[in-house]
Amino acid sequence: MPKTPDYFSGKTIVITGAGSGIGRATALIFAREGANVVCADINGAGVTETVEQVNAKSGQALALTIDVTKRAAVEDMVQLAIDGFGSVQFLFNSAGAAVRRSKFLDIDDDLFDRTFDLNVKGTFYAMQAVLPHMLKNQFGVIVNMGSMTHRRGGPGSGVHYAAAKGAVVTMTMGVAREFATQGIRALSISPGPIDTAFQAAAATTPEMAEQMLNDVPMQRFGKPEEIGELVLFMCSDACAFMTADTVYVNGGGGWR
Ligand SMILES: NC(=O)c1ccc[n+]([C@@H]2O[C@H](COP(=O)([O-])OP(=O)(O)OC[C@H]3O[C@@H](n4cnc5c(N)ncnc54)[C@H](O)[C@@H]3O)[C@@H](O)[C@H]2O)c1
Repeated sequence: MPKTPDYFSGKTIVITGAGSGIGRATALIFAREGANVVCADINGAGVTETVEQVNAKSGQALALTIDVTKRAAVEDMVQLAIDGFGSVQFLFNSAGAAVRRSKFLDIDDDLFDRTFDLNVKGTFYAMQAVLPHMLKNQFGVIVNMGSMTHRRGGPGSGVHYAAAKGAVVTMTMGVAREFATQGIRALSISPGPIDTAFQAAAATTPEMAEQMLNDVPMQRFGKPEEIGELVLFMCSDACAFMTADTVYVNGGGGWR
């Protein structure tokens, strides 16, 4: 919760990956707080659905169908957000995926490149697009999506994905430290298993789902809202000394 009442009212967040899962849940939480929400996703139907849900709660939202792996599209996203709402205070890069599970020796160039394009370059493009605007305002908070897997390396099925999330966490730290005196904060979140389409795709067999659950001391998956509320806290004025770090949210464990 923010320290200042109505802190988010009239402020604007751009959320990538807002057509589903954690991105959608975060969009609804920011709308609840009175923020304008720019919802971007490659899935046009998903992002339209998110905006309809925001509008149903009397929020202000804009739906953008964009592919975060395309620099020009990401630059357009930020410009449309500024044109639509006047300024942008927050960016949440939630778009991401493991693309495909693979044993390390079977990871080919295509899988490696697609994984890094989506998780790393998508985040890189969005930060480069929004930072000049935030620097002009001497204010901005960027939250990027890491994963618990970057601490475990993803052996057996996701070294490419774990490495990409490691790059996101490191890049976030670098950006935070480079712009720390200019009103910018940057943080990342490294979740364990969260109940979304992403997780359903990872739990390909009942045995695998069971194994994931057994690895979480709380004996359940997280809810997308439990990440969204953390994004809200990070963007708020509750702890403005917080920057550069990644925060683990994993019910005490984290299977990957
Ligand atoms: N769910 C988990 O267990 C978990 C754990 C750790 C990290 N994460 C990370 O959390 C983030 C959100 O995942 P989620 O669990 O909400 O899954 P999700 O699949 O529900 O949401 C991901 C969204 O990203 C969008 N997307 C994919 N490629 C895109 C592209 N090129 N351009 C724009 N949008 C694109 C998808 O359409 C989808 O709406 C991802 O970065 C994921 O790697 C998830």
